[in-house]
Amino acid sequence: MRSLLFVPADSDRKMEKGFASGADCLFLDLEDSVAAGNKQKAREMARDFLCAQRDSSPRPLLYVRVNALDSGLTDADLDAVMPGAPDGIVQPKPLGGADLQHISNKIAVREAQNDLPDGATRVIVITTETAASLFHMGTYVGASRRLAGLTWGAEDLSADLGAETSRLPDGTYTPPYVLARNLALFAAHAARVQAIDTVYPNFRDEAGFRRECEAARRDGFTGKMAIHPAQVPVINEVFTPPEAEVARARAVVEAFAREPDAGVIGIAGEMYDRPHLERAKRLLARLG
Ligand code: COA
Ligand code: MG
Repeated sequence: MRSLLFVPADSDRKMEKGFASGADCLFLDLEDSVAAGNKQKAREMARDFLCAQRDSSPRPLLYVRVNALDSGLTDADLDAVMPGAPDGIVQPKPLGGADLQHISNKIAVREAQNDLPDGATRVIVITTETAASLFHMGTYVGASRRLAGLTWGAEDLSADLGAETSRLPDGTYTPPYVLARNLALFAAHAARVQAIDTVYPNFRDEAGFRRECEAARRDGFTGKMAIHPAQVPVINEVFTPPEAEVARARAVVEAFAREPDAGVIGIAGEMYDRPHLERAKRLLARLG
């Protein structure tokens, strides 16, 4: 998943637009983009959309962002949308792995109730949204086999800190949010799941957005969340590995396959050893 687009689930128009946007995954949102009075309507609209689009092909993956465990809304969210068999659930504001296990158990119950295969529904967690959560970043390792990806949030964290801003005038993050980002990157890789970079709220600033995508790719994120359809093509472009890189990865994997006992080999005058093989395999795995 390169691009993961948030779509407020109380808007049929946005769900339709999102579906046609070219995003690899939609996050049908029941949380922050939906006002309290619209939650029930949004739940029903999300379920109807899932039911209508599930069998379309090709289609983006369809995840639902439910409300956080401490909101008291999660059960009603899951009751409403699980009959639509979403590909996954997005969990906001978990404290750590124990909260991931908690929602995984709630999902398991609904899978049974709706005759869905056990474990079919994946989870993406949005970490770093509270100050306390930063002290639990290592606890996602092994917490749930549903975990498909780990991302992070700066907006809610800055509200929790009472900070004046999370970004400097040039658009880059202030130090507390750089720490949150880096911890999320490490936490995702430690848990062996996809590292997904956070949103860039200024959706008219394409140059700044592209710079942030490129920095994320450089550091080991393999996808980014979007809040506007215009951001999707930029994400897809930046996070699609270039042909030359794919060809080189294939050459490395094939060369090691030909010489299974070799620890190191030379290809076109360059040295390749085991870490290169590992990286090549991971790149090819991303192509699906
Ligand atoms: N998904 C699907 N379609 C979207 C969209 C999104 N996230 N954001 C905008 N669009 C659509 C609009 O409906 C509009 O379609 P229309 O011309 O057919 O009406 C078109 O794209 C252009 O939108 P634009 O006028 O540029 O933006 P806007 O002012 O309508 O919307 C936001 C701006 C921020 C309200 C909107 O992008 C949005 O709702 N984003 C998602 C917010 C969210 O989910 N936040 C939670 C996670 S941080
Ligand atoms: Mg939020």
